[in-house]
Amino acid sequence: MRVGCSYVRAAAAFGAAVVILASAAPARAQTAPPIWTVPEIGALPDDANGRLVRRGRDLVTATYAHIGPEVADPAKRFAGNNLACGNCHLQAGTKKFGIPLFGLFGLFPLYSARQGGDISIEDRLNACMTRSMNGRALSAGSSEMEALVAYIKFLSTGVPPGQRLPGLGVGRMPELDRAADPVRGRAGYADKCLVCHGTNGDGLRRSLPSDDLGYMMPQLSPEQAWDIAAYVVSQPRPHKANLDKDFPDLLEKPVDAPYGPYADGFSEQQHKYGPFAPIRLEVARLKAEKGTSAPTSPPR
Ligand code: HEC
Ligand code: HEC
Repeated sequence: MRVGCSYVRAAAAFGAAVVILASAAPARAQTAPPIWTVPEIGALPDDANGRLVRRGRDLVTATYAHIGPEVADPAKRFAGNNLACGNCHLQAGTKKFGIPLFGLFGLFPLYSARQGGDISIEDRLNACMTRSMNGRALSAGSSEMEALVAYIKFLSTGVPPGQRLPGLGVGRMPELDRAADPVRGRAGYADKCLVCHGTNGDGLRRSLPSDDLGYMMPQLSPEQAWDIAAYVVSQPRPHKANLDKDFPDLLEKPVDAPYGPYADGFSEQQHKYGPFAPIRLEVARLKAEKGTSAPTSPPR
């Protein structure tokens, strides 16, 4: 178990984030960017807001137990799978480059290339409900939506609106100059992952009794990671309708979007497994072409 390695732990009263300067030396203090720390949920008082925020955190870490496909109340079955938001938004959305949920609140409404327009934080969250969670959207006034938004807002305590904290998203990994290889990945999976995640990658259901606690995950080279990821994404998965409507401007589509259509003429296969550099080059060329041929592009 790693303990608070990425963040300076702050003894923040009532869960408020503390902004401190990176250095005590006055000369550096003027130029050093402020350090923001993830606020401490345990320090929130046991009032209505504190309870709402804690419920939001629980919905992130154990989504399946509250709005999963097997919960007792059919009206609460919003997610279509037994994942938790926290399976992808690591450490309850507080881990740098683990697609954190911190520091987001003041960034929304935010332009979404996938949508081709601005979206609210509720829209963004529902995009994960309908895609990643293979489920249906939570309605704006629902208690679950309120709790999730309260949690995400809490995780932005002390962040000025519009400021983008470092560590958002997934970070970067060195790319291969070949396609990632699901066949090699299958062997890598058998070698490194199968012992815990099972033959078909079913994994261990946290909602079921198991002994899945206290393990260390293996370290992989970039090559192993790409190949194993290729094996994982080569498995059958639910297919969402109308994916072809995503990214109205196809030149804004991420090069690794594994579904067409594309503006660049490369295959779905290459968009899924790489190599991505040639695609990126072609997209840049098309963008430049489009830029110069635009008759009356407004001055910048
Ligand atoms: C299977 C993985 C997965 C699951 C499960 C998942 N998400 Fe996401 N989520 C993503 C990915 C990938 C992104 C896009 C990250 C990026 O753009 O860098 C994302 C983005 C987001 C964002 C915007 C983050 C940003 O940096 O702009 C929010 C908010 C969010 N998800 C909320 C949720 C919530 C709430 C749940 C659970 C109901 C959830 N997600 C479940 C994968 C997932
Ligand atoms: C020693 C056991 C073990 C091995 C080996 C292992 N995992 Fe895991 N993995 C786990 C457990 C336990 C979890 C659930 C962690 C949690 O929910 O906090 C997990 C979770 C995950 C998740 C979801 C992220 C999360 O934290 O919830 C992914 C993705 C994953 N493993 C991929 C892999 C891959 C790929 C490999 C092989 C390279 C691998 N794992 C090897 C035990 C293992």
